Amino acid sequence: MSTPRVLLFDSGMGGLTVARSVRHELPFAHLVYSADNAAFPYGAWEEQALVQRILLVMGELIARVEPTIVVVACNTASTIALGALRERFKVPFVGTVPAIKPAAAQSKSHVIGVLATPGTVRREYTHALIHDFASHCQVLLHGAPKLAEIAESKLKGVAVNLEELRGEIAPVFKGEGVARTDVVVLGCTHYPLLAEEMAKVEPWVVRYIDPAPAIARRVAEVLKETPVVEASKPVPPHNAVLLTSNRAGAEDALPAYAKMSFHLPEFLDLRV
Ligand code: DGL
Repeated sequence: MSTPRVLLFDSGMGGLTVARSVRHELPFAHLVYSADNAAFPYGAWEEQALVQRILLVMGELIARVEPTIVVVACNTASTIALGALRERFKVPFVGTVPAIKPAAAQSKSHVIGVLATPGTVRREYTHALIHDFASHCQVLLHGAPKLAEIAESKLKGVAVNLEELRGEIAPVFKGEGVARTDVVVLGCTHYPLLAEEMAKVEPWVVRYIDPAPAIARRVAEVLKETPVVEASKPVPPHNAVLLTSNRAGAEDALPAYAKMSFHLPEFLDLRV
């Protein structure tokens, strides 16, 4: 049987949280991780420019990897560009969008927090999820200006400033007693990287929803229905990492990729 090639894509290292679950769910798959690190962070981009950027980068990546499936391991990209990606490319895409539906179903207080990038918070897609699945809840939707960068820096070896982190997550904690926030959606794939530190600064204990295991299960389902076509040329090996910067722009991130077993970086040098 041929091995499916799974291309994981994020703006940076947040998608590694999804890669971990995909590896667990599909230990036989050929994984290639890609990050548009030259354009990080996506959270600050204007919508139309971001869609154009993602289409450009995805075109290069698909040509290079010839994936069986693409996992857009980024909420900020998925909530704006999934439709355009599916229209432009034939390969199946699995996206990552804020887990508002399970959060609303699990909350007992009906006060839920959604932590995401400023971009994801602005999206119509996110507001439609709230309207469709959480209309019975008070939803504290917060675009955290620095959280993805704090997570990215942590993986590059910079100590997390806990006071800054406290300020970034505080807006999703509201209410008192049984009527306070009890579930918080991690609506950016970078945020589970800060789980340990968030537990230190949260005002009270809540349940955080990391969608990675559910995304990995969805990837497995889609792959069952997707024929594996052999690549037409040599493609990056299993556990390779493709970055859109040049080598100098990624040097400080390479140890973190290696720690997650992503080696042999290729630098596409796709400047913004
Ligand atoms: N990891 C990305 C997400 O899930 C966003 C980080 C960024 O702002 O680039 O939304």
